Amino acid sequence: MTDPLRLGIAGLGTVGTGVVKIVQRQADLLARRCGRPIEITAISARSRDKDRGVTLSRYAWEDDPVALARRPDVDVFVELMGGSDGPAKAATEAAIAAGKDVVTANKAMLALHGQALAEAAEAAGRVLRFEAAVAGGIPVIKALTEGLAGNAIDRVMGVMNGTCNYILTRMDNAGLTYEQAFAEADGLGYLEADPTLDVGGIDAAHKLTLLAAIAYGTKVKFDAIELEGIGAITIEDIRRAGDMGYKIKLLGVAQMTGRGLEQRMSPCLVPATSPLGQLEGGTNMVVVEGDSVGQIVLRGPGAGEGPTASAVMSDVCDIARGIRVATFGVPATALEDAPPASAASPACYYLRMELADKPGALAKVATVLGEAGISIDRMRQYDHPGENAPVLIVTHKAARPDLDRALAALPGTGVVMGTPVALRIEDV
Ligand code: NAP
Ligand code: HSE
Repeated sequence: MTDPLRLGIAGLGTVGTGVVKIVQRQADLLARRCGRPIEITAISARSRDKDRGVTLSRYAWEDDPVALARRPDVDVFVELMGGSDGPAKAATEAAIAAGKDVVTANKAMLALHGQALAEAAEAAGRVLRFEAAVAGGIPVIKALTEGLAGNAIDRVMGVMNGTCNYILTRMDNAGLTYEQAFAEADGLGYLEADPTLDVGGIDAAHKLTLLAAIAYGTKVKFDAIELEGIGAITIEDIRRAGDMGYKIKLLGVAQMTGRGLEQRMSPCLVPATSPLGQLEGGTNMVVVEGDSVGQIVLRGPGAGEGPTASAVMSDVCDIARGIRVATFGVPATALEDAPPASAASPACYYLRMELADKPGALAKVATVLGEAGISIDRMRQYDHPGENAPVLIVTHKAARPDLDRALAALPGTGVVMGTPVALRIEDV
């Protein structure tokens, strides 16, 4: 056995405590697998006195995570505090400058600063690893970076926020309103400290941008993502989409097109019978399509103490074994600038609208769609007690700018009440 790999862990919340438990419980297993012991030498959190349900007295304590990151008895700085800036970023930078390898679960920090941090780590000859930052316990970073390294990636997509999938599933299965399902998720402790990160799609978009960088060898550009959350999804849309054979999912999609890199995080319809359509509750799923391998579906727990700590330990074990892969699969300085695609690739769309129930109303809608070059595939009008008729339309493939022109023209018909709902149907 060679020298132990010495960890300094900043952040002892859900994930940090989980990592401490694995290091303590699986010491022998880890040492056998890695060929050297893995030890914790120092820890940091906000409150030293909090009971965290694990024995911490044998580790050195630092109030300041930056001081922890610089300790000479730390080989790997494990950042599990969270937050895109502040102490997480300062301590990560300090660790790299002090010649430490870094493991983090912090998708927000990497989505905003991953490019600069990866460049700094590589310039210092260190590795910066982040398996736990995307889809929790699913080893998707390793799969994409290593297992699929021989493939050109056609598309990577997934449901990567467990909170949103839980809310949408409960609305569907239990008939809860969005507000009721949100309150239930809150009660179960699923929500981020700032829940807009979850339901606004931001958390999942952070994850998508990291996958896109690996898949396409492009610079991490979070602001290039087309982003929409689930706040406007109603029980009615979930029911109507179900009638047409679809489920609504907060779906992230990244694909390189002739028009540039497309990165979208938005509620989409997917076939109810597809793996993504059948994904229920807080579980995550990532689908990767490679030119040689075809389609790979990875499914598993996207959050929580055990699954996320398991992913952190995957990175720690790689470092212990001497496996040193560039943060995004290719050297950070070789990542390319990809122009963002100006509009999403054409797709079929689900449209729901309320129409005045009078002669010629449907014809006026069909005319507006037709003038925008949009062809109707299927249509359904529902029984209605009031004067307005709920109408569903599924279009053939249409370009989003054409659809936007049609949506802008619909109020001018005088027969469309309120604002129509338009959701993309993803070909999965
Ligand atoms: P958490 O439970 O809120 O724990 C955060 C920890 O950081 C706490 O121990 C806190 O100390 C400590 N901390 C905060 N500010 C600090 C500071 N200035 N100095 C020292 N320590 C500080 O968070 P978490 O759920 O474990 O998440 C940690 C990271 O993993 C985040 O980046 C998160 O996005 C990511 N992640 C989490 C999950 C999950 O399922 N929870 C899944 C994937 C990724 P106190 O305990 O003393 O307050
Ligand atoms: N809030 C995140 C989720 C935690 O619901 O998936 C894991 O990143």
